[in-house]
Amino acid sequence: MLNGSIRKRNKTVICKSFKDKQRMREAGKSAALVLDRLCKFVRPGMSTIEIDEKGGQLMDELGVKSACKGYRSGHRIFPSYTCLSVNDEVVHGIGVKERILREGDVISVDVCIRQNGFIGDNCRTLPVGQVDPEVERLLKVTEESLYIGLRQALHKYRVGDVSHAVQTHVEKAGFAIITNFVGHGVGRSLHEDPQIPNFGRSGTGPQFRKGMAICIEPMVNMESSHIRMAKDGWTALAVDGKYSAHFEHTVLVGEDRPEILTLPEGVMDSDSFLEEKLAQVGDLIAS
Ligand code: MF3
Ligand code: CO
Repeated sequence: MLNGSIRKRNKTVICKSFKDKQRMREAGKSAALVLDRLCKFVRPGMSTIEIDEKGGQLMDELGVKSACKGYRSGHRIFPSYTCLSVNDEVVHGIGVKERILREGDVISVDVCIRQNGFIGDNCRTLPVGQVDPEVERLLKVTEESLYIGLRQALHKYRVGDVSHAVQTHVEKAGFAIITNFVGHGVGRSLHEDPQIPNFGRSGTGPQFRKGMAICIEPMVNMESSHIRMAKDGWTALAVDGKYSAHFEHTVLVGEDRPEILTLPEGVMDSDSFLEEKLAQVGDLIAS
């Protein structure tokens, strides 16, 4: 979400009840299922409107609603079912028939749904066919930073612990954190307190409590941290015109482990999934 855009800032973070956590799990599962199926659908030669329409259809099939379509920011209303951002588009891209995917492109597929009053929000950037090795590295580092960050989403830890972990990993790799957009609390609303920046100092910021639900979503660019808005009023573009990446999960803060709610289809358990993802980071550092 846009940095600073939570309008009614109550500064009170909502911890979810047992029942609400169950509903969050269900919403997370559906959001992940739609994202997974939609990612498998993407092919070179497709237009982004085709992908968005498929996203809407997948949501229909599951009986869930898009939380993007109709989302208001000031007087503007988001028009698509999903956010589809290609290459230098960082976030909030709108599906259009003119935008045709070509081999070598990357596309961020951001799926955000509402089910039984609760939100599930997740995103992945995928290569379209073969991409430049440096772009592939951008995707890998951004995804890794998500897992390295969300490992810090623990009871009594601070928001800055997540922020710092994400920032350090990305900058060590030589890439730039986009600072205009941040992660966020989530629940009945798409954007709740607290904001979760992808940059900051450990030991600072609001303290996590078990039962808080948050979306962690690093947005990373090859060179520049800055964006400019496209004429459509929604799409954020990297000012350097270089490729950018965006990965997101909805996570429940736990006592000694985070619980990823947006697990890909077929993955049963958050702990082993996270462990596997973090082990792959280890591999990269070792090689
Ligand atoms: N993951 C995105 C965010 O939190 C989803 C935005 S939906 C939109 O900003 F409608 F705001 F575009
Ligand atoms: Co989000």
